[in-house]
Amino acid sequence: MSIISIVGARPNFMKMSPVINELNQLGMKNILVHTGQHYDWNMSKVFFNELSIPKPDIFLNIGSGTHAVQTAKIMIEFESICAAKNPALVIVAGDVNSTLACALVAAKMNIPIAHIEAGLRSFDQTMPEEINRILTDRISDLLFISEGSGIKNLKKEGVQKNKMFFVGNCMIDSVKKYIDKALERQPWLKLNLAQQNYCLVTMHRPSNVDSPESLLGIISMLNDISKSLPVVFPVHPRTKNNLDKLKVEIKKGVSITEPMPYLEFLGFLARAKIVITDSGGIQEETTYLNVQCVTFRENTERPETVITGTNHLVGTSTDSVIKKVNEILNGKIKIGSIPERWDGNSAKSISKVITKFLR
Ligand code: UD1
Repeated sequence: MSIISIVGARPNFMKMSPVINELNQLGMKNILVHTGQHYDWNMSKVFFNELSIPKPDIFLNIGSGTHAVQTAKIMIEFESICAAKNPALVIVAGDVNSTLACALVAAKMNIPIAHIEAGLRSFDQTMPEEINRILTDRISDLLFISEGSGIKNLKKEGVQKNKMFFVGNCMIDSVKKYIDKALERQPWLKLNLAQQNYCLVTMHRPSNVDSPESLLGIISMLNDISKSLPVVFPVHPRTKNNLDKLKVEIKKGVSITEPMPYLEFLGFLARAKIVITDSGGIQEETTYLNVQCVTFRENTERPETVITGTNHLVGTSTDSVIKKVNEILNGKIKIGSIPERWDGNSAKSISKVITKFLR
C-alpha cells in the first residue's frame, strides 16, 4: 500500500518535511511528488537540502503559468501518476495551486485525500489561496487542523466531525527542530546588522506587488522606515519581476536580497525587532518566535496569531504600517503566547491518524 505526498511551492516544504520524515520512520511506502510550481534553486532545491527532505521520486517540472494553465498541467500529469501507482492516500498541504490540482485529481479517482492545514479561512475569495483552501477541504477525507478557528470554520461548513483532527501546526515542528541551527549561523552579521535592530520584510501577494502604484508605495514606506531601523527585504521572484520594471530609488538603509534559504531566513526572523509581511506562514512563525509582526493585509486566515500571538493586522495603508512600526519602536508591543498544540508534535499526530486510517 503506497501513499503519495505532494509538494510544489515554497511554503509546502517546511510543512511537509516533518510529516514525510515521520512516515518514512514508520516504514510507510511514501512516494514524493514535486510538481515544480516553484523551480528556482532558492525557491525549491535549497529547502530539500536544509530540511532533509528526500529527493522527490517524481518531478513534474510544471513551472509558472496562469492559474488555469498551472493547475491544469499539474492535473494532467498527476492523473497518470495516480493511475500507475494506485495510492491508498494522497497527502496535500496548504493552499497553493499544486494543493488543489492534486486533490481534485485524487477525488475524481476515488483516492482518499489528507489535507494538512485544513479549515483556515480569510473569507476573501479574491485571494486564489482561499479558493484553493475551500475546495480542497470540501473533497478531503482527513482534515488536519492547525488552529482553533479551523475547527469552527469546518463545523460551520458542515464537515463531519470524524474527518476533523486538531493536530496543531507542523510548520512549527520545523521551526522547533531547526531554530538552534539557524541562530548559530547569525545571518544578520553578513549584513552588518545587530540582533533586535532591524526590520525584516517580505511581500509577494499579487494584490500588493502586481500594481506599480502599490509596489511604489511599499518601497517608499520601506525607505521611510529605514530612517529609524535598518530594513532587510528578501525579494520573491514575483516581486522582483515587478520591481525590475519600475524606476525607483531604494535608500541605503534598505538591503535588498535574493529569496533566502530556510535556515538563513529563520535566523533573520527570530532576531528581528519587527517583521512586516503579507505572507501567511510568517504570521505563524513570528507568533511562535515571539517577534512583533505587522501584517500588510486586510484580513488573515490565521486569526489565532492576532488573538493569541504577536501579529498586528493593520490593513494595506502604508501610513498604518508606519504608525504601527513607530508604536512598536516606542515600546507598545503585543505580549503573545503560543497557540494551543503548536508544540512540535503535529507531524507525529498526523502520522498516527494516517496509520490508523490505512489499517
Ligand atoms: C505561490 C502561492 C502562494 C504562496 C507563494 C509563496 C498559489 C496560488 N500561490 O505564489 O500562496 O504564498 O507561492 O512563494 O499557488 N517564479 C520564479 N521562480 C520560481 C517560482 C516563481 O521566477 O521558482 C516567478 C514566476 O515569474 C512566476 C511568479 O514567480 O510567474 C509567481 O509564481 P507562482 O507559483 O505563480 O505564484 P507565487 O506568487 O509564488
